[in-house]
Amino acid sequence: MTDLKKLSLLKTSSYINGQWQQGKADLAVVNPANEQTITHIVNAGITQTEQAVLAAQQALPAWRAKSANERSKLLRRWFELMMENQDELATILTLEQGKPLAEAKGEIAYGAAFIEWFAEEGKRIYGDVIPAPSADKRILVLKQPVGVVAAITPWNFPNAMISRKAAAALGAGCTFVVRPATQTPLSALAMAELAERAGIPAGVFNVVVGSDARAMGKVLTQHPAVAKFTFTGSTEVGKTLIAQCATTVKKVSMELGGNAPFIVFDDADIDAAVTGAIASKYRNAGQTCVCTNRIFVQDGAYDAFCAKFIAAVKQLKIADGMQDGSQIGPLITRSALDDVHKLVTDSVQRGAKIALGGDVDKAGHNFYQATVMTDVTNDMPIAKNEIFGPVSPIIRFSDEAEVIKQANDTDVGLAAYFYARDIGRIFRVAEALEYGMIGINEGLISNAAAPFGGVKQSGSGREGSHYGLDDYLEIKYLCLGGIGAKT
Ligand code: SIN
Repeated sequence: MTDLKKLSLLKTSSYINGQWQQGKADLAVVNPANEQTITHIVNAGITQTEQAVLAAQQALPAWRAKSANERSKLLRRWFELMMENQDELATILTLEQGKPLAEAKGEIAYGAAFIEWFAEEGKRIYGDVIPAPSADKRILVLKQPVGVVAAITPWNFPNAMISRKAAAALGAGCTFVVRPATQTPLSALAMAELAERAGIPAGVFNVVVGSDARAMGKVLTQHPAVAKFTFTGSTEVGKTLIAQCATTVKKVSMELGGNAPFIVFDDADIDAAVTGAIASKYRNAGQTCVCTNRIFVQDGAYDAFCAKFIAAVKQLKIADGMQDGSQIGPLITRSALDDVHKLVTDSVQRGAKIALGGDVDKAGHNFYQATVMTDVTNDMPIAKNEIFGPVSPIIRFSDEAEVIKQANDTDVGLAAYFYARDIGRIFRVAEALEYGMIGINEGLISNAAAPFGGVKQSGSGREGSHYGLDDYLEIKYLCLGGIGAKT
């Protein structure tokens, strides 16, 4: 049992304008592994969300006016504190989200890496000088912070999905308000505590925690003081939020759902493909937008891949994330598990076969067995929907053109993976896949240096990398006239 009293980063109310909100803590935060209450938080709503937006608005002029170097130093300190407190942050994350502790530590390092990255990248926001069409003019381009940024972040990466947005926003000179998912407020509040310890001024980074997602979301998407809105979550919710942002024409960036194909060609290194598929499918119990959703295997590789893959999946340890050696933790809620199980059973009714798993695990109500399904076709529910659970549907295919068509036959386009060795095929397939990110002979593609984002209904904008700043900057063009030639 974790001794909560030893967790100095465990905070239980919203952090607005450098202040922890007072009030009765009556909203339970539940550990998905055992469904027990970890703690209660003060339930914020519309009023606190508006206060947070106004605080960010007030803090903006001073933050924007700092030099990039000054902002960089504060962000760097925040990064260092995250890493110094990696164990405690990971413990809080595992308790509220469920992922294995080793994976949670990985998420803290991943999240902190964005802060480190944008501490540096913020110093390289260059403008431009463009040759003017006439001799008496000069054209200059400035890049300036968009202003107050509002964000809504998901429960599957309670730390990294905040840092990836906040670090870019703060590095660009914007101020920030985030509403984390109701299920996982504690990681966000712990980040606020560390931001304060790092010396980030009051009002620059605000966290509002509360259960009324709809009402708080309306404030964040419609408040006139918010210049830009960013969201990570489902495509369905993303569409509603985009529509709400339209009323005040906010700049938006969206990181939405995926349906990642993972293609194993005949010429693939089968062992490497098995390792990549395990990493990309079973990370976070299958609850990531970039998780492999459909595994396509070519005829010549099919038997060998299936045998090795099933043997490897069988070895995965399903247990409470706080237990030593746990590799697959619980799903976030019972209803999430029910949704996954329904996709499995509906597809079995349509002819898919369970090669492994296929039911609730003995580890507890919210744990789903590491599952492999064969005889799946691309039109079955398990292939058409984003699974968000530890289930691998395997689809057999014969030729390259056919698999590309099937892989692209979806409204979304976040991540795709394929394993092949023929260099011609590698270029053909990489260019033909309609996805924002492609793992080629690699199952783990997320890192701070790379542009994360999707095409089609997977969203707009890119996070991480030097492109990640663009969404937080406005381009301003200066036309200097009357220069002429000196006589
Ligand atoms: C996500 O699931 O939205 C993010 C996954 C990642 O950053 O790798």
